[in-house]
Amino acid sequence: MPLHVLKLLSADEFRSGEEISRVLAVSRASVHNAVARAREMGVDIQAVTGRGYRLARHYDWLDDPALAREVARLGYALEVLDEVDSTNTRLLARVPSGGEHRAVLAAEMQTGGRGRRGRTWHSRLGGGLTFSVLWRFQRPLTALSGLSLAVGLALARALAMHGGRDVRLKWPNDVLLEGGKAAGILIETQGDVLNGATAVIGIGVNVRDSRELREQVDQAMAALMPGMDGELARGRVLLDILSAMDDILSRFDVEGFAPFREEWQDRMAWRGEEVSVEYTNQTRLIGVLAGVDPSGLLLLRTPEGLMPVHSGEVSLRRRP
Ligand code: BTN
Repeated sequence: MPLHVLKLLSADEFRSGEEISRVLAVSRASVHNAVARAREMGVDIQAVTGRGYRLARHYDWLDDPALAREVARLGYALEVLDEVDSTNTRLLARVPSGGEHRAVLAAEMQTGGRGRRGRTWHSRLGGGLTFSVLWRFQRPLTALSGLSLAVGLALARALAMHGGRDVRLKWPNDVLLEGGKAAGILIETQGDVLNGATAVIGIGVNVRDSRELREQVDQAMAALMPGMDGELARGRVLLDILSAMDDILSRFDVEGFAPFREEWQDRMAWRGEEVSVEYTNQTRLIGVLAGVDPSGLLLLRTPEGLMPVHSGEVSLRRRP
């Protein structure tokens, strides 16, 4: 509901509560409540008696027919939901019932955004991109190793087009901008060892920075734009990511991760530095980040030799 109301508001002129309630065929009280909830979510709405409501800044909502057309030109089908628990959860539920290859489900708001290792993915309304892409591969589940790295590379290529800042990949697939995490990837797969696998590739990107988001996130973070007022349209970033994914995933399906290894390593964060690989069972492995192998495994140089590390349930920490 708040989004229906918000989408009727503009940053250029006031719109009265009465007019909004008439257009949406809801009570004035519902409009009032929607405005209150939107404010709770961090949206700055000005209210002036006798004139109505106005947004303090412009919002580039994603349910834009022009954006959907451009996405379609890239060979994807875009669906935008105002509010959903998690785009990954929703798209995953469609896999067995014929969810289409290259379906893209984006949400303006996620109430249960999920990250890797059971974490929560936070985003601010209008400040980021939260979407999932359904990809039906020819190759089986057992041949998807390196997929999350390949997707990370697509994100890095796309983000590097904006802002000209140093974009790095933290194994397995965090995208860092000048050291802070700007985007994350959560891949969930279905399939068996014989047939082509299906992946739901969930992507969260911090497009606009905000103090509120920094307060929610418990690690160093970054965003493409310094504040909520940046000119860069989220739709533009979405298109650039989908275009880079098209190039990379089409080739990945035929050749796997190997052809991307060198470019990935060129963008690798902390290469040559000492790190610790932390496992969920509290054990850890310490060594120097040597690179990745042709299937995307992390290569750690330890006193015992070069150790390959699987991504699964591990996280990487830089040693002080
Ligand atoms: C991570 O870095 O831990 C992965 C974050 C992935 C977040 C995205 S947002 C869209 C999609 N839906 C989810 O619930 N998660 C992914």
